[in-house]
Amino acid sequence: MEFRDQIAFVTGSSSGIGREIALALARQGAHIAGLACSWEKLQALKRDIQVLDRRCLLFAGDVCDRDFVFDCVRHVEQDLGAVDILVNNAGMGVGGAVYEVPLQDIQDEIDVNFYGVIHSTHAVLPKMMERRHGLIINISSVAGKVSIPYSGYYCATKFALTALSDAWRLELRPFGIHVLNVCPGTTSGTAFHERVRGVRRPLRVHYEMSAEQVARRTVAAAAVRKREIILTAGGRLYAAANRFAPGLTYYLLSKVVPYLVKRSENKGGLV
Ligand SMILES: NC(=O)c1ccc[n+]([C@@H]2O[C@H](COP(=O)([O-])OP(=O)(O)OC[C@H]3O[C@@H](n4cnc5c(N)ncnc54)[C@H](OP(=O)(O)O)[C@@H]3O)[C@@H](O)[C@H]2O)c1
Repeated sequence: MEFRDQIAFVTGSSSGIGREIALALARQGAHIAGLACSWEKLQALKRDIQVLDRRCLLFAGDVCDRDFVFDCVRHVEQDLGAVDILVNNAGMGVGGAVYEVPLQDIQDEIDVNFYGVIHSTHAVLPKMMERRHGLIINISSVAGKVSIPYSGYYCATKFALTALSDAWRLELRPFGIHVLNVCPGTTSGTAFHERVRGVRRPLRVHYEMSAEQVARRTVAAAAVRKREIILTAGGRLYAAANRFAPGLTYYLLSKVVPYLVKRSENKGGLV
C-alpha cells in the first residue's frame, strides 16, 4: 500500500492506460480524482474504485479548457484534499505525413497533448510547492524518444513532454516534487489506435504490452522515484539505436518504412 490515503488526479482516466493507472494507484491505497471526456466511461471507473473501498471524484470535460481544469483541482482540494500525485495521461493521436495533416488537427494535438498537461500541472503545483511534497507522472511515449514517420506531430508533442519532464524534475526537486516520465510502446487494451485522427494511422508493427502492464510498471517506478521508464524491449532498443547509431537507424528505416507503408495501405491503415 505504497500510496495509502494519497490523492491522485489522473487525466484521461476513462479508458486505456489512464484507467489502469487509476486502478493500480487505488489498489496501492490512493483515493482517485479522474478527468476525461466521457461521463459514462468514468462511471465504470467509479464502480471499480468503490469496490476497492477508495474515494473517487470524477469530472467530465476537456483538458484543453484551462478554467475547467483549475475548477476540477479546486473541487478535489475541497472534497478529497490536496493532490499528492498528478498523472498527465490524457492524449490523442494524429496520423499523416507533413503535407497531409490539416492545420486544425495539428492544433488539437498540441492543445490536448501539450497544453492539457500544462493546465493540470499549473493547477496542482501551488499546493504541491507549498506542502513541499508531490509526484508528477507524465505519460509520454517511445514516440517521445524517437520520431516515427507519419506521426511527426504526435511525436513532437511527446518529445515536448519528455523535455518538460527533464526540466521540471530539476526545477521542482528543491520543493520535494518528483517527476517521472513514462514512455510506453504500442499498448493494447486502449482506444488510442482506433481514435487516431487524420488521413493515416501511425505505423505500428504489433502490440508489445497491455495497458494493465503499463500501469503496473508505472506505479512500481513511481514508488521508487525512477526518473524515466521506456516500457518495451523494442522501444528501448529503438531509442538506444537512434541515440548511438543515428545514421544506421536512418538507413535501416529508409529501407523498412516504404515496406510498412505498403503493408499499411493494404490493411486499411494498420501495419
Ligand atoms: N496506446 C498506445 O499505444 C500508447 C503508446 C504510448 C503512449 N500512449 C499515451 O498514453 C496516453 C493514454 O492513451 P491510451 O492509449 O490509454 O488511449 P485511450 O484509451 O484513447 O485513452 C485516452 C484518454 O484520454 C482522454 N482524453 C482524450 N482527449 C481528452 C481531452 N481533450 N480532455 C480530457 N480527456 C481527454 C480520453 O477520454 P474519453 O475516452 O472519455 O474521450 C481517454 O480517457 C496518451 O497520452 C497516449 O499518447 C499510448
